[in-house]
Amino acid sequence: MGTPITAASTSAARAATASPADTPIVRTVDLSKSYRRGDQTIPVLVDIDLDVRRGDFVALMGPSGSGKSTLLNLIAGIDQPTSGRIEVDGVDIARLSERDLAAWRATHVGFVFQFYNLMPVLTAFENVELPLMLTPLSRARRRAHVDAVLAMVGLADRAEHLPNELSGGQQQRVAIARALVTDPSLIVADEPTGDLDRQTGIEVLALLSRLNEELGKTIIMVTHDPKAAAVAHRLVHLDKGVLGDEPDAAGAAGHD
Ligand SMILES: Nc1ncnc2c1ncn2[C@@H]1O[C@H](COP(=O)(O)OP(=O)(O)O)[C@@H](O)[C@H]1O
Ligand SMILES: [Mg+2]
Repeated sequence: MGTPITAASTSAARAATASPADTPIVRTVDLSKSYRRGDQTIPVLVDIDLDVRRGDFVALMGPSGSGKSTLLNLIAGIDQPTSGRIEVDGVDIARLSERDLAAWRATHVGFVFQFYNLMPVLTAFENVELPLMLTPLSRARRRAHVDAVLAMVGLADRAEHLPNELSGGQQQRVAIARALVTDPSLIVADEPTGDLDRQTGIEVLALLSRLNEELGKTIIMVTHDPKAAAVAHRLVHLDKGVLGDEPDAAGAAGHD
């Protein structure tokens, strides 16, 4: 039978440990970004308040030029806001120095790009190993991690291939393995199926879904592709730098 003291200490313990699980993994507050062109200021993102729950799979949609890539790059720490806060895993990344931000990024976020961005002179193995070169892991440990993620994306037998010896879909899977190899909690993907044919795109989406469901990775994916939006759990719409939620993704998928 629980005494009041037990109950109190239990809830105190819960309060103390609640934040990692309950706070959003990403929170932007009044986030704005503008560019200057001559004496003109061009607003790209306007007071964006976005919370992303841990373990969610969010599709970020909107017309070309609406600021999707800009928002994704801010969340991933590869661009700096004009004003506002960006908290990722409780860290206000907008306040980190460039050096701290680079170190933070190396282990907290994995990127997947539309055009894969693999190094053409490196093998699949070496491309995936690159983010680990910034860590103190031994060569043997790096090999173990790279082998594991290449197996996970189904490319264990392509480790020694150069990017131009791989199909587009395979290259994107190498890029996903590279995004995964440091075991980040957040993966951001900017139109990851934008350069792929339909069937290959579906395979890449299935892989992203597995990372979300089986490994618990939080995914934020920019996309124009209704198939891509349908695998997400939440749709967020950007229009002219202003954010809005769409009716839930499951409902949207039902009409597809
Ligand atoms: N470095 C830059 N300098 C000036 N304007 C930029 C820069 N980067 C992006 N923009 C502008 O910001 C707007 C949003 O761009 P972007 O985030 O790439 O949109 P999306 O990914 O939704 O197509 C566009 O109007 C674009 O021209
Ligand atoms: Mg874009």
